[in-house]
Amino acid sequence: MTQSNPIFLRSPGQICALRNVLWLELCLEALSEKFHVLVGVTGSVAALKLPLLVAELLKIPGLEVKVVTTEKAKHFYNAQEIPVTLYGDEEEWQLWKGRSDPVLHIELRRWADLMVVAPLDANTLAKVANGICDNLLTCVIRAWDLSKPLLFCPAMNTAMWEHPITARHVEQLKGFGYTEIPCVVKKLVCGDEGQADSEKSRCRCGWGCSWTHI
Ligand SMILES: Cc1cc2nc3c(=O)[nH]c(=O)nc-3n(C[C@H](O)[C@H](O)[C@H](O)COP(=O)(O)O)c2cc1C
Repeated sequence: MTQSNPIFLRSPGQICALRNVLWLELCLEALSEKFHVLVGVTGSVAALKLPLLVAELLKIPGLEVKVVTTEKAKHFYNAQEIPVTLYGDEEEWQLWKGRSDPVLHIELRRWADLMVVAPLDANTLAKVANGICDNLLTCVIRAWDLSKPLLFCPAMNTAMWEHPITARHVEQLKGFGYTEIPCVVKKLVCGDEGQADSEKSRCRCGWGCSWTHI
């Protein structure tokens, strides 16, 4: 053992210096801890934008990102283009084999500092508004720690959006303390090909996405 080992530090000056070093180390450790963002993605055509959303989030220093997907959402993006861990229903059930195993939706709600559901389709919106939890994504939301922020970005065709039940569901979510990222109206896609110019085929998608290059 050498004199530089903290055990041999004896004088008040040395102890004070050691305390400062330890304090600095603690601060650096706290600073290096990443902020955990959990992205939820559902079966809206706006899920085409998932790779872009994840890429943009990863540009923000200090963020760690994970994605929870519904099965329907998988139709809209290529998993190979998502450079972060992607969880779906299969992972939830593969992870749990016996009583000592972790439960993925609880692990994820614990891991996340913030959740953003983008896009949130009409189906999952309705489920969340009514407390239904029949897949990994809705289980995470059902178990959500309400002291942490949850942002949701509705995305659906205008016909669905204008149905009176949508406003009720959105209000319900806001009542839970979740934050709505309001829709922007964009033309094109929406599965309404051929009518893309008409008012009625407009698509409402959250998180300010632009459809022009799809
Ligand atoms: C091509 C296509 C595009 C769709 N786009 C939307 C959409 O933008 N918004 C929406 O609410 N539903 C949309 N749907 C319907 C949902 O995919 C459907 O309600 C599905 O059951 C949602 O499942 P999930 O909420 O578990 O992801 C679309 C369906 C198809 C086939």
